Amino acid sequence: MNKYSHGLTRDLDLSLPDLLALLDLAAEVKHAPRDFADRLAGRSVALLFEKPSLRTRFTFELGVQQLGGCVVTMDGPVGGREPVRDVARNLDRWTDAIVARTFRQETIDELAQWASVPVVNALSDLYHPCQVLADLQTLREHFCRSHGPALHGLKLTFVGDGNNVAHSLMLNAGRLGMHFALAAPAGYHPDAEILSQARALAAESGGSIELTQDALSAVDGAHAVYTDVWASMGQEAEAAERQRSFAAYQVSSRLMAAARPDAIFLHCLPAKRGEEVTDEVMESPRSVVFQQAENRLHAQKALLLTLIG
Ligand code: CP
Ligand code: NVA
Repeated sequence: MNKYSHGLTRDLDLSLPDLLALLDLAAEVKHAPRDFADRLAGRSVALLFEKPSLRTRFTFELGVQQLGGCVVTMDGPVGGREPVRDVARNLDRWTDAIVARTFRQETIDELAQWASVPVVNALSDLYHPCQVLADLQTLREHFCRSHGPALHGLKLTFVGDGNNVAHSLMLNAGRLGMHFALAAPAGYHPDAEILSQARALAAESGGSIELTQDALSAVDGAHAVYTDVWASMGQEAEAAERQRSFAAYQVSSRLMAAARPDAIFLHCLPAKRGEEVTDEVMESPRSVVFQQAENRLHAQKALLLTLIG
């Protein structure tokens, strides 16, 4: 068992120095993928999906294969046929890591509690740490020269639901010393406990976490504007109500014009054009959403190398 025996169940499982080292490694993997071609030879990874996926599934499956390892993917509820703790203790006999996308964060935590191999959160209702590794890699590619590898002082504005992606962004922005602003209507702000964790980290790092209902003021001075769907997977029944609540929170060219002139646009994808973002912004030169999607591959390869390489 290595020092990451619990893997990446939530963002803060990875220490700040380890996060920065991982991002350095992700850049190396991107630059010279062949140098890492055999690093997971003889290793196996289990991928579990309770929810749909395009990016996470392809990038983990291809990532493991490109590192010379072997991957097996299963769709469906984790713990439907047998208890989660039994699933964990089966998979850890055959594999070197378990990557799981679940509804409940507790399912990820229970897998990690019972498995002797690292468990990686590939999105839960509370966090999406793998996404944010790629997002930080993308932000570094644009702003490392001006803000250094830790992106200190960079302003990142999230316009939309205080959801899993927002939580993971907020925690990492807080500990890196970034200025993070989130604009959402009342009732859709982030989880209070995660918010206070992020604020405590920001107080130490010299960053800041601002919450507002005013999207226009939130993007003022932003180097990067980020959004995500208004209704996450599992919230489909609330979609109509959320469309009404979030109507004033669409990222449009007008909103982007209120950010810095060199501001980039980020989205974890999938995007709903005409809802949280306009087609014009998605297709604009400021949009780096496919660079983010590409970086999922490199960042997760770096994660797997860190955990089990
Ligand atoms: N961004 C992201 O996690 O995409 P998928 O849901 O397609 O995996
Ligand atoms: N917040 C979204 C992210 C999808 C990658 C969801 O959970 O559906």
